[in-house]
Amino acid sequence: MIIAANLKTNLTREKTSKYIKEVESFLAKNNISQEVLVFPAISSLNLHVGALTVGTQNAYPAINGAFTGEIGYEQLEEFGIKTILIGHSERRHVIGETQEELIEKFNFYKELGFKILYCVGEPLEVREAGFDKMMEYISNQYEGIDTSYENLVIAYEPVWAIGTGLTPTLEDIVAIHKELKKISSAPLLYGGSVKVTNAEEVLALDGVDGVLVGSAALYAEHFCTMCEYAQNIDK
Ligand code: PGA
Repeated sequence: MIIAANLKTNLTREKTSKYIKEVESFLAKNNISQEVLVFPAISSLNLHVGALTVGTQNAYPAINGAFTGEIGYEQLEEFGIKTILIGHSERRHVIGETQEELIEKFNFYKELGFKILYCVGEPLEVREAGFDKMMEYISNQYEGIDTSYENLVIAYEPVWAIGTGLTPTLEDIVAIHKELKKISSAPLLYGGSVKVTNAEEVLALDGVDGVLVGSAALYAEHFCTMCEYAQNIDK
């Protein structure tokens, strides 16, 4: 299974390094063989060799150049980063990235062989429009994306569940994952208010290949517990 921590715009470089050390030591002590990904803030990226993989929350689709405020492949290469998060709801809805921009980013980093964690998910008003409308909206977020890319991982994250403490019912997660598996057979994670208190039951669901965790992952101890749950379930 895949357990991923999205640290967003949290933790300093020093705290991130401590966090990664703590998680590494837990993984080693507890013989965790699951795939563990950590996405720190960009200023906290660093070379890391160990059981967990460090990825970037974002990058511009360019090797380098005149893209003020962005980083490109050259800055990732310096730290051996080969994993990227694309299409996260905050990039789509807060930063305003369009599907066209995401496709460009996806294709650029795919060409470079990156592992791509691609996020999809519907806002509340779409969910309230009914199952078919919701699935149509989510399917459109796969538009232009190579769903058979070998290094692709998908995360289904309902926008209304991110950072809110709300989650779909377990039955809903199973039903949506079942539909999404028809679009792509890539590993499919669930994300949106995953916490120590619900991670175990979410990880055990049919069609759930892991979790992408935001707020709750900020506590290394909580994130480690989720890695342990995944190890015990080990589908
Ligand atoms: P959350 O965030 O766990 O705080 O809901 C998840 C995410 O944004 O990936």
